[in-house]
Amino acid sequence: MDTGTQTLFDQVSEMLQSVQQASISNAAELEQFRIEFIGSKGKVKDLLAAIKDVAPSEKKAYGQVVNQLKQAAEAKYNDFKEQFEAQIGTQATDIDLSLPGDPIELGARHPVQLVRQQIVDIFVRMGYSIAEGPEIEDDWHNFSALNFPPYHPARDMQDTFFVYKDATDPLKDIALRTHTSSVQVRVMETTKPPIRSIMPGRVYRNETVSARSHCFFHQVEGLYIDRNVSFADLKQTLLHFAREFYGAESKIRLRPSYFPFTEPSAEMDVTCFICGGTGCNVCKHSGWVEVLGCGMVDPAVLDNCGIDSNEYTGFAFGIGIERTAMLKYGINDLRLFSENDIRLLRQFRGAV
Ligand code: PHE
Repeated sequence: MDTGTQTLFDQVSEMLQSVQQASISNAAELEQFRIEFIGSKGKVKDLLAAIKDVAPSEKKAYGQVVNQLKQAAEAKYNDFKEQFEAQIGTQATDIDLSLPGDPIELGARHPVQLVRQQIVDIFVRMGYSIAEGPEIEDDWHNFSALNFPPYHPARDMQDTFFVYKDATDPLKDIALRTHTSSVQVRVMETTKPPIRSIMPGRVYRNETVSARSHCFFHQVEGLYIDRNVSFADLKQTLLHFAREFYGAESKIRLRPSYFPFTEPSAEMDVTCFICGGTGCNVCKHSGWVEVLGCGMVDPAVLDNCGIDSNEYTGFAFGIGIERTAMLKYGINDLRLFSENDIRLLRQFRGAV
């Protein structure tokens, strides 16, 4: 036997001894053993590869001893592995139970939903019930029943997205509703007075998207119909709302305005809840901020909806949710509400 071959045989038997004598007392040492002897870069692999240097007459015998070595190493590894696996559960090896867990991040309610809920809650406590209507509306509910006659310029107060535009008959048009006042009509058509209804929803207008206007936003509509409902009832209801929503010290003022479906119509300002009326950027140093449109339901609208205007009167109002949320939370760009920027949204964690 040449000396090179003899050396290889010697190495195999030495390694068999090291394998047999290797002391393994924990999972880390077992892994060390695996890497040293049986891993893809282990010593046994090297000895197997060395068969090419063995004298041809000895290759068979060499192959046998290296295989014995390999089996011995694998058998030892498997024995210990089973032993350690059996211990897992009773003894912490590589699991550290004292490490802090991965936090479960809580989501936040969207500011539009927060404000919508706050407004709706105030009116629900006054006995109003919640109603909703479709976002795709026919001409009747969005316009005609509300006293916007065909071709009347008041229709241009709100630029409309049409889903279907009839060539000859505007009454056949289908559009994305431009205001939640369409839900008023639906409620009046299907409910006998007394009616106390609060109607939140999304509305659409064909406007260029900017910091101050958007092609969709949200409103909360209110409607109260009964015998002898007066403008004083409207004013007191809105004052109560302002005190609940903006703070007990709030004052309101009503400025004359125009909507086709209310007569008289008004816009309501509330004392600036940022500066308390002394003047700041939010109220543009006037001490007042505009918060909603309102008025007494026009008798023609009641009649359109099947309610006898000789017997009943009522009031209605519409509150813009984004506008309210911008004032309340100091948000200065309408687009932020629909960009889903996590840096904005996470500021509302835990808010109710
Ligand atoms: N629908 C009106 C708007 O969108 C608001 C409004 C509602 C005004 C109810 C009066 C009564 O501008």
